[in-house]
Amino acid sequence: MARSNNIGNKQLIGQTLLNTPQTYTSTAILEFMRHLPEQREMMLGYPINMETPPAEFFAWRKKLSAVGINQFSFNNVGNPYKHSHVPFNTHQLEKELIERFGAVYSFPANNIWGLLTNSGTDSNMHGIYMGRTLLKGRTGITPKIYFTQEAHYSIQILRDLLNLEWISVTTNPDGSMDIDDLEQKLCANPDHPALVVATIGTTFKGAIDSIDGIQAKLKNRKSYLHLDAALFGGYLPHTKFASEISFEAVNLKTKLKSKRYDSIAVSCHKFFGFPAPAGLFITTQTSFDNFQELFGKVHNPEYLLQTPGTINCSRDSVKPAEFHFFSSKPAFTRQADNAKAMLNNTDYLLKEMKIHYAHLNPTRANNKSNIIYFKKPSDTIVNRYIIATMELTLDNKTEPYAHIVVMPHVRRKILDRFLTDLDHKII
Ligand SMILES: Cc1ncc(COP(=O)(O)O)c(C=O)c1O
Repeated sequence: MARSNNIGNKQLIGQTLLNTPQTYTSTAILEFMRHLPEQREMMLGYPINMETPPAEFFAWRKKLSAVGINQFSFNNVGNPYKHSHVPFNTHQLEKELIERFGAVYSFPANNIWGLLTNSGTDSNMHGIYMGRTLLKGRTGITPKIYFTQEAHYSIQILRDLLNLEWISVTTNPDGSMDIDDLEQKLCANPDHPALVVATIGTTFKGAIDSIDGIQAKLKNRKSYLHLDAALFGGYLPHTKFASEISFEAVNLKTKLKSKRYDSIAVSCHKFFGFPAPAGLFITTQTSFDNFQELFGKVHNPEYLLQTPGTINCSRDSVKPAEFHFFSSKPAFTRQADNAKAMLNNTDYLLKEMKIHYAHLNPTRANNKSNIIYFKKPSDTIVNRYIIATMELTLDNKTEPYAHIVVMPHVRRKILDRFLTDLDHKII
């Protein structure tokens, strides 16, 4: 229930989050957490779906428990596509869910490989490591990695971890990769293969790097293109923009199919609302086989009786089994409904902000994005609605901006409350 709050003589109609407990006994902590469910709708500024999954998900959990999953130590160590010496795993469910999502992204049915990872970052790590290994294996030269400043900060960390030289590609005004700059930088580095990370939905602005534009510049070069589609990769396949993210392109004249990228990473806790961090990593079986041959040189298969092809040894069995629920036909229908509602609500927020708060410069990078960014309002609003902020330089002026990510739990009611609170001009 909404409470009124007085700040000076201004009144806000939203709720302020309760303070964290002062004493850290488990009872105090649980008492604090007891209030979290009713406050989750206030989270407008991060790409997490705060909805509770449907009752059928919890029924599925119960079925999994009944066969021992999450009751004793299962472990998905190894390649989910290979026979495992230790049978206590959920590889079959993991493989099936990857195949179902592979079909969603239009990977060819007989040429899909992947795994369920710990997070989008973990999936990006698998993609970048695979790209580096394949390119180094093909050419004998460590690739350079190309991405923009708008890419997620974890890409910077992975670049550092994998000891790759970063070629920073500049961006267009909307935050997407400047393809001409990519071309110039590729030409300036002719002796190194190119490992490109394209972001499909940049974290702050929601910009989309052009896959086809990048591919056009990579033609006849030794390259690997990984997509970081942490948030947008969840919903785009269920919208009229599905082809934006599809693995294959069909040439209308020749009807021939060609691949548009090499691998894709998507977070499961973002759009899908899986109630714990997890990630999809999908590539082709062909790429994986080539990778595995090279990976076999750094991995001794004796102990596991296979070369797993995964970076992690022990892997969670519970998450793939549970996330399997999100790969059924009814789940895809629900995701399509959520995607539609989310994009409609983003249209609404942009329209209202443009009418009432044009001075905040509300901006949407493109009509596929569920993110609106605007000049930062007061700290009170930023804290109340758990909004992320960043310094942006737009039109040669650097100032703080904030953004709202219109996730499935962000409905009209809460948007209206936010818009009303903005009206109190506590800036
Ligand atoms: C574009 C992008 N890539 C990667 C990530 C990291 O994903 P995860 O939190 O699942 O590790 C994020 C998180 O916000 C993101 O926006």
